Amino acid sequence: MGAGSACATYGEPIVKILVIGSGGREHALCWKFLKSPRVSAVYCAPGNAGTATIAQNVPIAVDDLAGLVDFAAREKIDLTFVGPEAPLCAGIVDLFESKGLAVFGPNASAARLEGSKVFTKDILLRYGIPTAQAGSFTVAAEAKAFSASLGYPQVVKADGLAAGKGVIIAPDALTAESAIEDILDKKVFGAACGAVVVEEFLEGEEASLHLLVSGSDYAVLPSSQDHKRIGNGDTGPNTGGMGAYSPAPVLDAAAVKTAEETIVKPLLAAFEKEGIHYKGILYGGLMVGPKGIQVLEFNCRFGDPETQVLMPQLDNDLVDLCEAVIGGSLGSVQVKLAAGAAACVVMAAGGYPGDYAKGTPIAGDLGDQPDSMVFHAGTTMAGEQLVTAGGRVLGVTAWGADIRAAIDAAYRRVGGVSFSGAQFRTDIAARALSR
Ligand code: AMP
Ligand code: GLY
Repeated sequence: MGAGSACATYGEPIVKILVIGSGGREHALCWKFLKSPRVSAVYCAPGNAGTATIAQNVPIAVDDLAGLVDFAAREKIDLTFVGPEAPLCAGIVDLFESKGLAVFGPNASAARLEGSKVFTKDILLRYGIPTAQAGSFTVAAEAKAFSASLGYPQVVKADGLAAGKGVIIAPDALTAESAIEDILDKKVFGAACGAVVVEEFLEGEEASLHLLVSGSDYAVLPSSQDHKRIGNGDTGPNTGGMGAYSPAPVLDAAAVKTAEETIVKPLLAAFEKEGIHYKGILYGGLMVGPKGIQVLEFNCRFGDPETQVLMPQLDNDLVDLCEAVIGGSLGSVQVKLAAGAAACVVMAAGGYPGDYAKGTPIAGDLGDQPDSMVFHAGTTMAGEQLVTAGGRVLGVTAWGADIRAAIDAAYRRVGGVSFSGAQFRTDIAARALSR
């Protein structure tokens, strides 16, 4: 792949990759890129102790856009893959493209799909794409009047990026009103608080659908399901995601087909009408329930931990897929999948998602196995010792003939890893197994 956002030479042999981010998602992406015979080097900025074992970590923060573009230009990086949403929403793709550097992800205008819930809700409602009925407001009194006209529970959402904290499920009027005040008057989520979305509560089972998108072309990746609550049986506070499995039976082939017809195609047509050129990953958070398949949210990047279960199933060369998205040839690409399933159990620090300790030593077998891989999330090295450095510490991932084989293998590997205070759910994939 040559420099330049048009990604000139499809299939060119040797490429240097930069992956931006530091979580389990980025470890899984580095791991997958390194399976490509076309890759000569993978850098990860800033990475973690896991990415350091397979790639070269670069100490540049994800919000240091100027530092990242300088590095990519200086090192002649052929392809930069942006993991998290914040740099995408801040315009990293626009910046790289302005320098003629190939970069995977949507530009800032397209990334509003994740960066602004008001923007997305407006598109969904205007184009008749199934989603919760909602209103968007900048004035608290107006939001409260609308809120009072909806039933309970209802959902109050800060407009912008709020690190997963800006969504409040309100069981009653008091909670809804105080959430509206917190967002619009007290600005408790900072810059995310310019506006609020108040919407009806949707019943059903959540699932994730990831797509590669390049303008009007798209390719569907296997469905998956995340486990957002900290506790077994979906109890306790929300987290970044405590585990995942794929494919998700709730989003089987027929349901995916329905989602393509009722959500994906109308959305891409809406983009075209709105003058938005979307390229990158489109990750739909969907509710499958009595009202059919409805959109909860869109993200403009890969899910974490969903990436950890998607990468082992993907048989394509990831460089080829990225090139096809960037170069506009996605329509001629066939996504190839390994048969079977994959599952990931997140091991988190004690106390997470509240306060938690860092620097706790990690022991056990973290090595690469033919049917499993321990992806690092919040880890670092303290001298020679691997220690915890975040809330979600490890994503213990395995794959097999079916979900049962994959999840059993993942829990076997969890049994061989330990750190003081470690917590993990023991019911990952239970919904799939109970069907
Ligand atoms: P979001 O960031 O919009 O996906 O919201 C985060 C989480 O809140 C989702 O994964 C759901 O679990 C929950 N949620 C958001 N909107 C709704 C809704 N309208 N009805 C039910 N649950 C919701
Ligand atoms: N797995 C949830 C997320 O990546 O947003």
